[in-house]
Amino acid sequence: EIQGVIFDLDGVLTETAEYHYRGWQRLADEEGIPFNREANEAMRGLSRRDSLLLMLNGQSRTEEQLEEMMERKNRYYLEFIKDVSPADLLPGAVELLDELRAAGIKVGIGSASKNAQEVIQRLGISDRVDTISDGYSVTRSKPAPDLFLHAAEQLGLAPEHCVVVEDAASGVEAALAAGMLAVGLGPVERVGVAHVVLPSLEGVQWADLLAKLSHVER
Ligand code: G6P
Ligand code: MG
Repeated sequence: EIQGVIFDLDGVLTETAEYHYRGWQRLADEEGIPFNREANEAMRGLSRRDSLLLMLNGQSRTEEQLEEMMERKNRYYLEFIKDVSPADLLPGAVELLDELRAAGIKVGIGSASKNAQEVIQRLGISDRVDTISDGYSVTRSKPAPDLFLHAAEQLGLAPEHCVVVEDAASGVEAALAAGMLAVGLGPVERVGVAHVVLPSLEGVQWADLLAKLSHVER
């Protein structure tokens, strides 16, 4: 029986995944590091540090240089999210959050981002979520299950009663490792290992999704 849904934030409820990508692209260009949209796909959902390390692809940097680059990318990102508003919620997001509330299903956010609180506030959905687990909540980031387990605990729910909605391969992996049901949003090449794969939340109704999830064997 499903009692809670834990949403990833960037790329699921809002298109800030695009802003993360642009921030990394600008940093890569400045540093002369080869990077593009395709390379970014593997970085979705990863923490700031893990993303940078993946981008560096084994090139060594001092800790000081790493810190500076992470800070620079975050400055670009903060510039992008300055104007985030409720208009930046992806199609279907608010409708689904409201349906879940009406159905008595608890709602959590499980985002690796240290900027999640600010984004959620700007999106105007703070009162539609019961708990927020973010980049400050746990030390081991996705694909480790820790962030989603943290969210489930905050909601007072056992993992097997939770569903995770994710756009990232690392996030789907984290959800499965947590023993939760996983809904992947996006191409099967990215989220194909999820129990249910959908293009986006647009037009998604809780009753339909619940029906799909109840057929999952585990
Ligand atoms: C999210 C995004 C990642 C991002 C990570 C850390 O999970 O999907 O692309 O790297 O958060 O975000 P932060 O805002 O802390 O740099
Ligand atoms: Mg995401």
